[in-house]
Amino acid sequence: MSVQRVSLLALLDPRLSESRPASIRLQDSLLETGTVLYTDHPVDRELVGHVFTLGQQFFSLPIEVKQRYEFPEQGRQRGYTSFGVEHAKDNPDRPDLKEFWHQGPQLPDGHRYYKDYGHNVLVKEVPEFFKALNLLHTAYSGVAHGHVLPTISVLLNKDREWLSRETKDGDDVLRLIRYLAQIHCQGMDGCEPAAEHQDIDLGTLIHARRGGGLVLTLKDGSKLTLETEGGELIFQTGDMLQAITGYAFPSITHMVKRQKDPTKETMSAPFFIHPNPEFTIEVLDGFKDQPRAGEVKRASSRRFLFKRLIEIGIHPGPNPYPF
Ligand SMILES: [Fe+2]
Repeated sequence: MSVQRVSLLALLDPRLSESRPASIRLQDSLLETGTVLYTDHPVDRELVGHVFTLGQQFFSLPIEVKQRYEFPEQGRQRGYTSFGVEHAKDNPDRPDLKEFWHQGPQLPDGHRYYKDYGHNVLVKEVPEFFKALNLLHTAYSGVAHGHVLPTISVLLNKDREWLSRETKDGDDVLRLIRYLAQIHCQGMDGCEPAAEHQDIDLGTLIHARRGGGLVLTLKDGSKLTLETEGGELIFQTGDMLQAITGYAFPSITHMVKRQKDPTKETMSAPFFIHPNPEFTIEVLDGFKDQPRAGEVKRASSRRFLFKRLIEIGIHPGPNPYPF
């Protein structure tokens, strides 16, 4: 089974003869590989490049300046996270070779979810960074909520708007990552930019770069290197979608592969799709007979999220959500 390339346009327009085959290929690809490559999407490559350029300016600031924008007590869910803080869940001694920035949705002032989410952070030294990140967040959000989630809702035997309703004003996080050049990890055990992991969210969108960069571990244990032409949108199922479907839609283990040139650093900008704080993680009717459905523990989406943030080192704990 390979990761399918599916045109977002074909998927959305039922008048196109491609519509039905496209949705079958989407379902097969997600069930088998937890991953699909969307083509014909509206996230602008130049905007991604612009965010990378401004990100480069921010990450080049002295560490003591960057750390003014780091807030460990809030689980670093907005603003900066230093190099060496995050690690894969079961690999606490091998931090990933990355530093990153988190930008969330811009909700109206006084919105009731801000007490959970925290506010976005303005970087004084690179003022355009904020606006560019918001533009990219909005672009990804449009694809996620207007296109991707409605098609997945149908695969879950719900109405098209179901997931969008549940994720309305959700805590979607754009993460701008700088992976350090591999040359910096000489002498360390292993040298992958990001160790094997699964994403905690409902699903993740990533603007693909040419030549790919992800290695997937499929359900049978085999490895698959995702080949991309550059510019596609990769979608991967996260742990929350896996949980509510009783593991029918798998959250696939993946890692970022090593660059050919060890002196080169790279950037990427995944978009993590999260429900709002009122969403409960529990197996949906229709998936309760899945063989692994019994493994899913009922919890609020916030408790589910913060459990993992503590496990990967970016929140100091304890979990602020009792349910
Ligand atoms: Fe990931």
